[in-house]
Amino acid sequence: MEVTPRGALAALFALILLAVTVTAAEAEEPRAPHQVFNQVCAHCHMGDKAVGPPITMKFPESVHKARGDYMRQVVRHGRNAMPAFRHSEISDVELDALLEALMSGEFAPRSTEK
Ligand code: HEC
Repeated sequence: MEVTPRGALAALFALILLAVTVTAAEAEEPRAPHQVFNQVCAHCHMGDKAVGPPITMKFPESVHKARGDYMRQVVRHGRNAMPAFRHSEISDVELDALLEALMSGEFAPRSTEK
């Protein structure tokens, strides 16, 4: 097969289109709770230089609704030094999963928090 400049250009264009489509699909894929936590929350809420209070402690199932509502409010609207996070930064699906993981104590450091 002879590759004409025009054919090469078309192939290149198709490749670019494909790359853009794949990237867009990946962006819509919800991140796992630990990814969101590590990317967005941990640097303020974990470790000895944390500026925010501990938020990884386990809560009993019976208060998940109330605690979840409260945390969602803080994340979406901010609170004093904590900035608000928009839907474009953390989707509702990601936030739901993150809050559930936080309340279940999944990210609680074993030694420093009960
Ligand atoms: C820029 C630093 C920063 C980031 C990033 C941050 N926070 Fe905060 N957060 C704070 C500070 C500071 C407070 C304390 C606000 C206050 O009450 O004065 C706080 C408070 C909170 C509270 C209230 C805690 C309580 O017991 O009252 C929750 C819940 C919370 N953050 C969740 C999160 C989650 C979830 C994320 C990630 C999506 C996050 N934060 C990202 C700084 C941050």
